Amino acid sequence: MKLWGGRFQKNTDELVDDFQSSISFDRRLYRYDIRGSIAHARMLARQGIIGNEEAAQIVRGLEDVLADIEAGRVEFSVAAEDIHMNVEQLLTARVGPVGKKLHTARSRNDQVALDIRMYVKDEIDQIRRLLGELLTTLLDLAEAHVDTVMPGYTHLQRAQPVTLAHHLLAYVQMFGRDADRLRDCRRRADVLPLGAGALAGTTFPLDPGFVADQLGFAAVAQNSLDAVSDRDFAVEFTAAAALIMVHLSRFCEEIILWSSAEFAFIELDDAYSTGSSMMPQKKNPDVAELTRGKSGRVFGDLITLLTMLKGLPLAYNKDMQEDKETLFDAVDTVKKCLLIFRPMVATMKIRREKMAAAARGGFTNATDLADYLTGQGVPFREAHALAGRLVYYCLEQGRSLEELTLEEFRQFAPAVAEDVYRVIDIRHCVDARRVLGGPAPQAVREAIDRARAMVAQV
Ligand code: ARG
Repeated sequence: MKLWGGRFQKNTDELVDDFQSSISFDRRLYRYDIRGSIAHARMLARQGIIGNEEAAQIVRGLEDVLADIEAGRVEFSVAAEDIHMNVEQLLTARVGPVGKKLHTARSRNDQVALDIRMYVKDEIDQIRRLLGELLTTLLDLAEAHVDTVMPGYTHLQRAQPVTLAHHLLAYVQMFGRDADRLRDCRRRADVLPLGAGALAGTTFPLDPGFVADQLGFAAVAQNSLDAVSDRDFAVEFTAAAALIMVHLSRFCEEIILWSSAEFAFIELDDAYSTGSSMMPQKKNPDVAELTRGKSGRVFGDLITLLTMLKGLPLAYNKDMQEDKETLFDAVDTVKKCLLIFRPMVATMKIRREKMAAAARGGFTNATDLADYLTGQGVPFREAHALAGRLVYYCLEQGRSLEELTLEEFRQFAPAVAEDVYRVIDIRHCVDARRVLGGPAPQAVREAIDRARAMVAQV
């Protein structure tokens, strides 16, 4: 008989059992469920709602159930629907009738809200740790490549020279914001819903503050209806996870491009590449591609959660059971991708000479030439046109700006003097961009120091 079977005359159809059961996936929450139940039982005894000896038996029983599950000694039951009722049944099987007192002043509605908040908080901590490790790797790599000049792009056309360090620091900012977003989201997940009961609280004199202390919650829910029907924190978490995937995916796209023969800026380590079943020469960036591909799953998870919530009347509705597989998928995907991405980046071979050659081609110093002319008193719009004409002249002859003679320069722009060669030197173009957040090595070194201080907070 079902734990809620009292008012029913027959059993649920087997199809219904199978359809509505969540144990196949929410078993993952067992640790949180048991920890929450232990705190609840202790509180019930403290408040005189159950006896001290009863609570002690329940707590011991729950600890045994936990050990049984961890040791793989438990067969969960589909008929018991979910992890909450499975644990309760296992408890009662162990400790006898006293187990039936555990659910006093509690509903699965506040219980499940508690479990997933604990779960999300834990996963946020783990993902923040992974982000911190990735950030450190990126900063180490940046430190080694403060002088590695490469082209910066807009529209995927070579634009102005930057350094690899500068490029990597852009991702440091993105992943830094991701870590920050997760911390922010964690604050709103850190609210104890237990005590809300099914929806309207309970007639028992509970002490939610005590439970919050035991379970490490910073606050207690202020409204029982909201406590059981709020999944905003799950949406926020998944949105933050989706952005992590966006950032990983953009980076992966660049890694894929850079490892092509057309760019040849990097070579992935063999350990993070794959081959082709037909073409013997192939070395493919599958890990980066798969990460890029998996981003869509997490975006889907976010849409699933938003859609699940938008039409729900207060308070709990069974639709909300759909939050779990969604959250689990977002968590698993983001963790797996972060875990593999870090060593893939740490072990890739950087081909400085290819990057430098690409920066020297493509007239990435044309802006510097225009700026130079502007410094000689030519209005910028005219300087821009003159530099453009010089680029066209070079293109027709298959030469670069630095290969022009002073006479050739002067045919277009009489203001040009010998010092132009220093100004359009690619290395100088980078060094001259000393503005805060710019690519000049000194600016980048300072940015790395600031980023290291930021990472220490992650
Ligand atoms: N398995 C359910 C869920 O995940 C637990 C809450 C069920 N509550 C209820 N009244 N049916 O949402």
